[in-house]
Amino acid sequence: MDMPEKTIHDLEELKEYAAGFVATLRGGETIGLVGELGAGKTAFVQEVARALGVESAVTSPTFVLMGFHKTGAGAAARGIRTLCHVDAYRLKEESELWEIGFGDYVGKPDTVIFVEWADRVPSLRGLPGYHELKIGFDEGEVRRLSWDAASSPPLQDKPE
Ligand SMILES: Nc1ncnc2c1ncn2[C@@H]1O[C@H](COP(=O)(O)OP(=O)(O)OP(=O)(O)O)[C@@H](O)[C@H]1O
Ligand SMILES: [Mg+2]
Repeated sequence: MDMPEKTIHDLEELKEYAAGFVATLRGGETIGLVGELGAGKTAFVQEVARALGVESAVTSPTFVLMGFHKTGAGAAARGIRTLCHVDAYRLKEESELWEIGFGDYVGKPDTVIFVEWADRVPSLRGLPGYHELKIGFDEGEVRRLSWDAASSPPLQDKPE
């Protein structure tokens, strides 16, 4: 299985990439984001949210582990109604995530889930519909995005 890689030069390119990626979503996916502090995990979720027509602000709030955002009419019309955004940075045990009801949203057909610091939640890797995106630094604003072949088979029509 290949591991599609993409070099992203700036936020405008991230926006385009996220929009292309969102077009491949069907609902029910869980996307794990792995990358160092400041790599651009939240930035990616923000661009995904924009492409989904989310109006509420996507941030990384200090005390909220899991946030929900209603999508816009376009995404809703194709069955994707909710963006669930998890930031696992402050998790002490991965069980905490499951204890707050995360499992209720996994695989939910009208929901797409994005988990920052997914490497802190190894149990994600066994989930059907799980895909992992690594975001690495290059020079300046340049980032390298790569999909992990060890998670689910690649999404169809995934942008190169
Ligand atoms: N090509 C790019 N892709 C992503 N972010 C970029 C890019 N170029 C610049 N940035 C900037 O890098 C920063 C990334 O911060 P962001 O909060 O998204 O990182 P993060 O991985 O979520 O960090 P944290 O580990 O603190 O959650 C933002 O200020 C963003 O504007
Ligand atoms: Mg973040």
